[in-house]
Amino acid sequence: MPRILSGIKPTGRLHIGNYFGMMRPAIEWQERGEALYFLADYHALTTVHNAAQLRENTRRAALDFLACGLDPAKAVLFKQSDVPQVTELTWLLSVLTPMGLLERCHAYKDALAKGFAASHGLFSYPVLMAADILIYDSDIVPVGKDQKQHVEVTRDLAIKMNETYGAGLFKLPEPSILPNLATIPGLDGQKMSKSYGNTIELFLEEKALKKKIMGIVTDSTPVEAPKDPANSSIVGLYRLFASEADVAQMEADFRAGGFGYGDFKKRLFAAIWEHFAPARARRAEIEANPGYIDEVLRKGALRANELANATLGRVRNAMGL
Ligand code: ADP
Ligand code: TRP
Repeated sequence: MPRILSGIKPTGRLHIGNYFGMMRPAIEWQERGEALYFLADYHALTTVHNAAQLRENTRRAALDFLACGLDPAKAVLFKQSDVPQVTELTWLLSVLTPMGLLERCHAYKDALAKGFAASHGLFSYPVLMAADILIYDSDIVPVGKDQKQHVEVTRDLAIKMNETYGAGLFKLPEPSILPNLATIPGLDGQKMSKSYGNTIELFLEEKALKKKIMGIVTDSTPVEAPKDPANSSIVGLYRLFASEADVAQMEADFRAGGFGYGDFKKRLFAAIWEHFAPARARRAEIEANPGYIDEVLRKGALRANELANATLGRVRNAMGL
């Protein structure tokens, strides 16, 4: 049975890009192996420097994940920081991590380009991520496309450790990326991302969601004129939620003219609202039971610790500690 592992950073509210790129595939994987998913609060600390905010984000991410169908009877859900052993493994990997490998990482280069202060934590972010993956002897890592490079770094580090300290010390993980969901577009047509401020969050109130959808950037083609469905983020998003027939209808209406973008946005809103109706109901149930999330995370941490202790013991021994 494969072991499946992934994490998500609680840096803000989870959005539709997170959902299709990572959460839904991860939830599907829980049927096919031993799945472990965690809230990457150590990683979130590279950008969130407010304790109350981090706690709230972390709790809400757990709630959203459970509402979307993560089933604690099938998958282990835990907080990254409940397994501090990963920080020790980070150090053990660091001593063999070439600087150049980290200097080439997109996430770090992008952060620099956006003008973020480059902390040591941000630079060594991929080493912590490698420790997350390797400490659970993971086979498969379901992530969005932007995390592929980090999984490749993880493989490089595992190979280097195995060459130095003995074949079989670490398993080599494989990323799992669904090609048609690699990049979900945001309100402005760029990749949907918290850092671009173009997200549609998962559990918005009805009015707020409508407002967001109506705010999708469009050109100024008049109502009567035909429109191009190919490059429209409205159609791109609609495809994620609507049936093939409804998508074909929207594309035909784009080409025919006589429909304004407002009309298409209303259809998109209705499809999103309906898609998340069951998850909204589950979310309300979980919220009504305050101890539930704590209990899920507590049990998750127990299992994660058990696995992490075994790996760390093996690695310490191999390295001479
Ligand atoms: P953000 O870019 O909003 O900060 P994260 O980097 O926290 O999102 O991403 C968490 C997970 O969701 C990752 O596996 C990432 O690949 C996936 N993901 C985020 N945005 C998208 C998107 N627009 N399309 C597909 N997957 C995405
Ligand atoms: N870096 C990932 C992100 O930004 C989150 C993450 C941390 C992760 N550790 C991981 C994902 C281990 C997969 C496996 O989305």
